Amino acid sequence: MAAEQRALDLEKTADWYRRFRLFETPGQSELYADWAGGVQSDAEVLALIIGLPRPKRQPNLVFACARLLGAPLAGYRIFRRWLVEHWPAVAAEARVRATQTNEPRRLTAVMPILASIGPRVALIEVGASAGLCLYPDRYSYDYSGRRVDPADGPSPVLLSAETTGSVPLPKHPPEVVWRAGLDLNPLDVHNPEDVRWLQTLVWPEQAERRRRLDAAMSIARRDPPLLVAGDAVVDLEALVARAPQGVPLVIVSPAVLVYLAPEQRAAFADAVTGFGRWISLDGVGVLPRVDALLPETPVPGDFIVSLDGRPVARCGPHGQTLDWIVG
Ligand SMILES: C[S@@+](CC[C@H](N)C(=O)[O-])C[C@H]1O[C@@H](n2cnc3c(N)ncnc32)[C@H](O)[C@@H]1O
Repeated sequence: MAAEQRALDLEKTADWYRRFRLFETPGQSELYADWAGGVQSDAEVLALIIGLPRPKRQPNLVFACARLLGAPLAGYRIFRRWLVEHWPAVAAEARVRATQTNEPRRLTAVMPILASIGPRVALIEVGASAGLCLYPDRYSYDYSGRRVDPADGPSPVLLSAETTGSVPLPKHPPEVVWRAGLDLNPLDVHNPEDVRWLQTLVWPEQAERRRRLDAAMSIARRDPPLLVAGDAVVDLEALVARAPQGVPLVIVSPAVLVYLAPEQRAAFADAVTGFGRWISLDGVGVLPRVDALLPETPVPGDFIVSLDGRPVARCGPHGQTLDWIVG
C-alpha cells in the first residue's frame, strides 16, 4: 500500500469512528461510544482495520463481529487488548458478514404512509434482512402516547416513537395482503446462526431492542415471509411481477440504499417509481435529490423518510423519533 494512500485510509477510518461516536451512539450505547472513541485515536488498531476492504471497516460491523466471537463488554483498554489478540478471527468474520440489522421499529415512520396509500396494500421490502419490517399490520404502535393497534387487537410487539408535527394516524395499520422481501443475503428466523447474528447486531445496552427483536422474530416464525435472494437494482422487477393485481403495490427501502454505489442508488430511484409507490428511509446524503427538497438543512445522523422521492418526515435511524414535515 503506497504510504500516501495508507495515510489517507488511516485518516478516513479514524474519521468514520469519530462520526459514529458523535452521531450514532449518543443515547444508544455508551460502550460503543467508548470503543469508537478509543479506536479513533489508536494507530495500531486503525492499522489493523484498514487491512479490511473499505465497506468492512464499518464500526458497527467490526464491533458486532468482535462481540460474536466473545469480545468482553468492557472499557476500551480491555476490549482493545482482546481485539488485537483475536484480530485474525475478527477480520475473517467481517469479510464474510455485512450489517443486516433488522429493526421493525423503523415501521413507525412507514406505517402512517402506508395507511395514506390504502387500507389494503401489497408490500415489497428491498434490503429486507430477515423480513421483520414486512409485518406493519401485526405490530402495535405508540406515537407520543397515541396508540394504533392491529384490527384484531394489541400485538405483543409495541413500536414507539417520540413525534413532532401532525403525523396522520389511522385507526388500525393497513392490511398487508401480500408481502415479500429482496435481499443480497436473506436471513432466516428459523436458523439459529442467523438469529444469533441478528441479536448481536443489537447494541450492547439495548435490552428493549433485543426483546423487541425476539418478539418480532416469533411473529415472523409463525408466518414466514417470502424472501428472495437478489440485488436491489437487478432483481426487483422479477419480484414485482409476482405481486398480486388489484391492490396498490408499495416498495419500501429502509436503511439499504446506503449500501449501493451512488450510480446504483440513482438507477434504483429511477426504476422503482415505475413499479409502484416507493417509501424510503435513508441517512442524510444517501439520496441527494430527496435531501434537496427538504425545507430545512438536515442534521447529520437524521434519517429522511420519503414517498415517491419527496420528503415526508425525518426520523431517528432506528425509528425512535418521527418529525413529520409535510402538512
Ligand atoms: C441495515 S440492513 C436493513 C434491514 C431492514 N431493511 C431494516 O430496516 O430493518 C440492510 C440490508 O440490505 C441488504 N442489502 C445491501 N445491499 C443490497 C443490495 N444491493 N440489494 C439487496 N439487498 C441489499 C443487506 O444484506 C441487509 O440485509
